[in-house]
Parts: sequence; C-alpha cells; structure tokens
Amino acid sequence: MMINHHLKFLLFSLIFKTGFSAEISVFVLTGDSVELDIQTKLPEFEELTWIYNKLESIVKYYSKFNIVNSYPAYNNRAILNETTFSLILENMQKKDSGLYTARINGQIINDIVTYRISVLDAVKAPVLTVNSVMFSSNSCTVNFTCRTQDLVINSNYQNNTCSQEEVTSQENNTLILSCSEELIMCNYSNPVSWKKDETKIKQLCVNKENEETKAKPTLLWLYVLIAAIVMLILVGIGIVIHRHTRKTGSRNEDNQL
Ligand SMILES: *[C@@H]1O[C@H](CO)[C@@H](O)[C@H](O)[C@H]1NC(C)=O
Ligand SMILES: *[C@@H]1O[C@H](CO)[C@@H](O)[C@H](O)[C@H]1NC(C)=O
Ligand SMILES: *[C@@H]1O[C@H](CO)[C@@H](O)[C@H](O)[C@H]1NC(C)=O
Ligand SMILES: *[C@@H]1O[C@H](CO)[C@@H](O)[C@H](O)[C@H]1NC(C)=O
Ligand SMILES: *[C@@H]1O[C@H](CO)[C@@H](O)[C@H](O)[C@H]1NC(C)=O
Repeated sequence: MMINHHLKFLLFSLIFKTGFSAEISVFVLTGDSVELDIQTKLPEFEELTWIYNKLESIVKYYSKFNIVNSYPAYNNRAILNETTFSLILENMQKKDSGLYTARINGQIINDIVTYRISVLDAVKAPVLTVNSVMFSSNSCTVNFTCRTQDLVINSNYQNNTCSQEEVTSQENNTLILSCSEELIMCNYSNPVSWKKDETKIKQLCVNKENEETKAKPTLLWLYVLIAAIVMLILVGIGIVIHRHTRKTGSRNEDNQL
C-alpha cells in the first residue's frame, strides 16, 4: 500500500500518548490515508480485530487459517498488513473520526492499542489587510489586520518589527503574527495544515517614502517654472519699457532739433 511520506511524518509528529489510557491521538487531513501501527510486540493470539468506536469490527485476522475477514463498512478503504498487523485506512472523511482499537483474542483477550483519530479539513488562507501607512522622520508605521473565519489580530508595524502575537480558537486553530525587516506574516494553522498571507514592508514603506521625496522635486519644478515665467514677463516688460523710452527719447531729440 502506498502511504506518502508526508503522511507518515504527520502521523508520527502528531502522536501524543496520554498518561492514563494508552490512547494515541492522531490528526488526519480529509481525503488522506493513515497507517495505524500495533506499537508493541504481540503475544500469541487466535484472532486479531481492529474495532471502530468499541462497537464495530473493521477487519479480523484468524492466525490459525492465516485469513483476513473485511467487514463491509470500510470495504475497500481498510487494509490489514498481514505482516505487521497495522491497519491502513484510505480516503479518510470527517465521519471516520473516532476510536480505533486493535484487540487480540485467545487465551487472553487484550486491547493492544487505541488511536483517537480526528479528521480535519485544511484551513482557509488568512487575509492580511493594511489599514494605514504613516511615514514620519525615517520611521514607517503600518497599521494592519490579520483575519480568518474565527480569529482576528490587529496590530502595528514599527521600527522594523511588530509584537509577535498568537491566538487560538475553540477548534484549536491558531493564528500567529510575526514580522521581520522584510515582511509582515500571518500564519493560520490547525493540526493538519497551515496557510499564510504576508506583505512586503519595502513595498509599503519605501513606496510611501518615495512618494514623499518625489513630491518635493515636482514642487521644486513648479517653483522653477513659476520663477522662469515671472522672469520672462519681467524681461518682456523691461524690453517694452526700454523700447518705449528710446522711442520717446528719440522723438524728444527730433523735437529739439
Ligand atoms: C506490510 O508491512 C511491511 C513492513 O513494513 C511492508 O514491507 C509490506 O509492504 C506491507 N504490506 C502491505 C500490504 O502494506
Ligand atoms: C489601527 O488603526 C485603527 C483605526 O484605523 C485603530 O482603531 C487601531 O487601534 C489601530 N491599531 C493599533 C494596534 O494601534
Ligand atoms: C523606534 O526607534 C527609535 C530609535 O531607534 C526610538 O526613539 C523610538 O522610541 C522607537 N519607537 C518605538 C515605537 O519603539
Ligand atoms: C483543543 O485542545 C485541547 C488541548 O490540547 C483539547 O483538550 C481540546 O479537546 C481541543 N479542542 C478541540 C475542539 O479539538
Ligand atoms: C506556520 O505555522 C505552522 C504551524 O505552527 C508551521 O508548521 C509552519 O512552519 C509555519 N509557516 C511559516 C512559513 O512560518
């Protein structure tokens, strides 16, 4: 049976043995497969059964005859490995969440291992919204919001950083805010998946800064233009006055003659 590596990794990284019962908690992404191991060395037995929610048999192995009986509920989705007796469950759906127990029957009856499986959908991506950008004397302040269907973080980015924040919902979904010199990042996760939204600080702060420094040159050009026009007008008036005085001057000279 093909079980992809990432899955096995997930399975092992998400195993927590609780103190009292030998219940192992496993989170599975909807549609994925999962392999449930026996965990220990088995004593002699006549039958080994994987049971769902302590009520329903999924597969039964008879050691005397070396045969496997699969029950209809999981027909093609449950496969027993006859070497290791691990149970492979394919295409897991939310309704498959629950307890999975391996039980042996023979001289002794014993529950070997119990898994508590939670099948979860992948989280939807968070949305990072910039509310405002303020730029003053070399410091850029960005006010922003990270939002998911059930969680919100509102914060400010200042001095190349922001205060790291982490909030968790009732469903144990987590939203983490982190910032670096380069970006603001919102990371939304549950035990089987994570998605992020991020924004580059340079694009926000440097563009804003450029706008302001660009604003000055355009103003300067305007001043130069106005000055030039004023000078042209002055020169024009000067020429007119000059010609006028020269004409009247020459006329006066004529009169005197
Ligand atoms: C059963 O497990 C053994 C050992 O991990 C492996 O080599 C074998 O391919 C498995 N068989 C099936 C049907 O998955
Ligand atoms: C961000 O700006 C909003 C209004 O624009 C304000 O209500 C909020 O307090 C600001 N957030 C922070 C963390 O200062
Ligand atoms: C940002 O840094 C400057 C000096 O580097 C400091 O004077 C100022 O208080 C800081 N602002 C905040 C909000 O930490
Ligand atoms: C959230 O996690 C806590 C502790 O890990 C657990 O007790 C609780 O049942 C979880 N809640 C849900 C909805 O999975
Ligand atoms: C997002 O959070 C998850 C769960 O905490 C973590 O595994 C993942 O590496 C984080 N992603 C980034 C880009 O930091």
